[in-house]
Amino acid sequence: MQIHTTAYLDKREVSDALVIAYYKGQLVRPDLGHLETICQAPIHAGDFTGGLGELACVWGAEVEEKRIFLLGLGPEESCSPEKLRIAYGAVAKACFKYKCKSLNILLPELEYAPKAVVEGLLSAGYIFDLYKSEKEEPLEDITLIGKDALKAADRALRVMTSVNRARDLINGNADTVTPQFLAQYAKELSQEFPRITTEIKDKAWIQHENMGLLLAVAQGAKYDPQCIICSYKGRPVSDEHTVLVGKGITYDTGGLKLKSIEGMLSMRSDMSGAAVCLAVIEACAALSMPVNVTCLLPTCENAIGKDAYKLGDVYKSRAGITVEITNTDAEGRLILADALSYAVDAYNPTQLIDVGTLTGSMEIALGNSYMGLFSNSDFLAEALTSSGLHTHERLWRMPLCEEYREQLKSDVADCKNAATPKAGSIICALFLEQFVQNVPWAHIDMAPVAFAKDARGYLPKNGTAVGVRLLVDYLEKQQREQHDN
Ligand code: BES
Ligand code: ZN
Ligand code: ZN
Repeated sequence: MQIHTTAYLDKREVSDALVIAYYKGQLVRPDLGHLETICQAPIHAGDFTGGLGELACVWGAEVEEKRIFLLGLGPEESCSPEKLRIAYGAVAKACFKYKCKSLNILLPELEYAPKAVVEGLLSAGYIFDLYKSEKEEPLEDITLIGKDALKAADRALRVMTSVNRARDLINGNADTVTPQFLAQYAKELSQEFPRITTEIKDKAWIQHENMGLLLAVAQGAKYDPQCIICSYKGRPVSDEHTVLVGKGITYDTGGLKLKSIEGMLSMRSDMSGAAVCLAVIEACAALSMPVNVTCLLPTCENAIGKDAYKLGDVYKSRAGITVEITNTDAEGRLILADALSYAVDAYNPTQLIDVGTLTGSMEIALGNSYMGLFSNSDFLAEALTSSGLHTHERLWRMPLCEEYREQLKSDVADCKNAATPKAGSIICALFLEQFVQNVPWAHIDMAPVAFAKDARGYLPKNGTAVGVRLLVDYLEKQQREQHDN
């Protein structure tokens, strides 16, 4: 995908379609020259109103392009980056229908337009056809017509490229995207970006670190567990250090507490947290952001079989806390616990953020439009929530309710890994909190948004990689604050 810019409509080169935007009932830009009549006609005829995401196609001898897409942005007073993402997402879908490979887009004169337009187009234009015999034709060239659009558009292109790569990882077969595959992918990132270094820790290292919980979850699997550590040093002079920990369960059968067909069908997406972290570090490097970030990704499969870890058995975590397994399907918190305790001891981070598809209850609580956020730091929680609103990858803060902690008590061990189904997501967060000491920590349960049954707005069906834009925005804001100080 290539993005070009040009300042004026009459300087453009001909492409497969020209996109002209409308607010409700009115052209966004009146400077259309000889195209004005043809663009006003559908409004005058009452065939097109300019409602959000509304799209019409017109043809005419006076148009240099094969066609014009008329695009509705909804009422001018309520226009926002999110509305632009939705509207230009509809354009990407029209490109599939009309087999357009190149687009000219007359940008609305809004400061946020270049970024939001690219995000909507590239998100909805994502194609996953690896396993299809008939391939889709992707968009290849976009020319944005507007002033000063290049920098923001180029940054958005880089972020969306990493988002779409994360989607490929999530959607790929679980028998392809194994812990070893993720490790190889992380190594390749370090070859592509000199400021990323990758260390792959194998099973022997995991044993040496006494990560008994990660080993327990992994013991039934065909593939050995891995601990992937990727570091990006964009600001070597600073002690500031963000550690991201991502859940990398490459397939979740539920273990001996086997999931149903319905429950298991999407479980190749249970490494979404790890994929999001990899995309975030890739975006940081691609944007040369002045931040220091380390991704720590415990990865393995939660398999069923003669070697699978057992209900009722007790395993010892790296931190020394022993855990009675009351549910083998509550495996994400186990692998994260060992990674969090390593992160705290090895890096003494200024902030620690873990992300993953932890609980189905999160979806029961929030539906599919929010991720759950838990944090021991109001400051961190507020900053993340604000980035969530800004990127529309929204977070809703949940309580770390102390009274519920006793539900994790065990007769035979220091704690259990799961309790009653009530407040399942909170119990999970309370379990994790035991491993973070006093480090400012946030836990993002992305189970509600990670994998979509249907395409929604500019988000594709299946793996969404929601969370990448959120975390990149959060890190970008932080970099700005440091510069202000
Ligand atoms: N990977 C699942 C959570 C999940 C469910 C993600 C649905 C995406 C969609 C996780 O490992 C799991 O199975 N959690 C259990 C926890 C329970 C046993 C306490 C769950 O949600 O049922
Ligand atoms: Zn599970
Ligand atoms: Zn899981």
